[in-house]
Amino acid sequence: MAQAQSAAPAPENAPFEVEQVFAGTCGFCHSDGGRAVGKGPQLMNSPRDDDFIRNRIKFGKQGAMPAFDGAFTDTQIDLIVKYIRALKPREG
Ligand code: HEC
Repeated sequence: MAQAQSAAPAPENAPFEVEQVFAGTCGFCHSDGGRAVGKGPQLMNSPRDDDFIRNRIKFGKQGAMPAFDGAFTDTQIDLIVKYIRALKPREG
């Protein structure tokens, strides 16, 4: 009988609801979907470049932000970077 692969990486094409993931995983520190300052800085209109943002998400910052290297694939992290870049103030 074939063994199921137990440690398969997350499928790259699985649905990844970035807004929900952000709200659930990052929202505790990055308020209002990243639009406002919370325990962490505002991410909307970040002056940082994509590499900085990608690396901060992957490796975190000691004593400030957890690392998400194992939690997300590179593809998913790219989607999060795109999400941050696309942030706009809420209407109203
Ligand atoms: C426990 C709180 C916490 C969580 C959870 C958290 N962060 Fe952070 N984040 C921080 C803090 C604090 C900083 C500022 C670190 C520093 O001093 O450079 C930061 C910095 C960042 C930065 C760099 C912003 C800048 O301009 O320096 C990005 C991008 C970022 N976080 C994205 C995320 C994402 C995406 C998630 C979820 C996957 C997340 N963070 C989860 C606390 C958190």
